[in-house]
Amino acid sequence: MGSTVLRVSDVQAPLPLPDPMPRVGRIALRPWESSDAGFLAGAGSDDHLRRFISGWPSPYSFSIAEDWIAGQDEARRWRERLDLAVMDPVSGRLLGAVGLTGFEDAHRRAELGYWTAPDARRRGVATRAAPLLARWAFDVLGLERLQLLIEPVNMGSVRVAEAIGAVQEGLLRDHSLIAGQRRDVLIYGLLPDELVG
Ligand SMILES: CC(C)(COP(=O)(O)OP(=O)(O)OC[C@H]1O[C@@H](n2cnc3c(N)ncnc32)[C@H](O)[C@@H]1OP(=O)(O)O)[C@@H](O)C(=O)NCCC(=O)NCCS
Repeated sequence: MGSTVLRVSDVQAPLPLPDPMPRVGRIALRPWESSDAGFLAGAGSDDHLRRFISGWPSPYSFSIAEDWIAGQDEARRWRERLDLAVMDPVSGRLLGAVGLTGFEDAHRRAELGYWTAPDARRRGVATRAAPLLARWAFDVLGLERLQLLIEPVNMGSVRVAEAIGAVQEGLLRDHSLIAGQRRDVLIYGLLPDELVG
């Protein structure tokens, strides 16, 4: 009988969802729902977002958005990623997204990401939403470090990272393949006692 090789993810529990869902003022996190596909498809067609986030299929259709939402449980099951929608809890309007990916369980760290819908930008959405997920990741998941990888020209994201307390630690050359090109990225580290917000 052949031996079974276990991956680290095989012996780890699925990523839980925050319970209760974090919120502050007019910013709340919630799981993605099938009815969000139209919002996601719209965001996935935004040039600014596509310029700075890798991995969005082109074109980003409604059915791709539906499949991505349907795959959320599986992604958490294998600790690949945890993505949450950002919404206004008063109006119910969707504003953007926050997520954790790149889990390295042996080192209790992961990567924090965010985006804001074009018509909700520059109103403090990412600056208020990202700390909600980061605090939960530290307090409940027990992570001890979050990393953010940001292109130097992405001034909005640099501003968000620094506003939430992340510290710039260096430049990773040709690190990421984004929009078909290799890009340098700044690496930011965020430790639990540095988090602002
Ligand atoms: C980067 C991004 C998430 C910022 O979201 P946002 O909700 O508009 O951010 P906030 O409103 O919280 O802005 C935080 C600060 O950044 C500033 N800012 C936002 N966008 C900016 C831009 N394009 N250029 C310069 N500054 C910008 C804001 O004015 C604000 O400054 P302040 O702290 O002095 O008030 C959003 O532009 C986006 O979705 N970009 C595309 C996806 C992306 O780049 N994600 C991050 C990948 S690393």
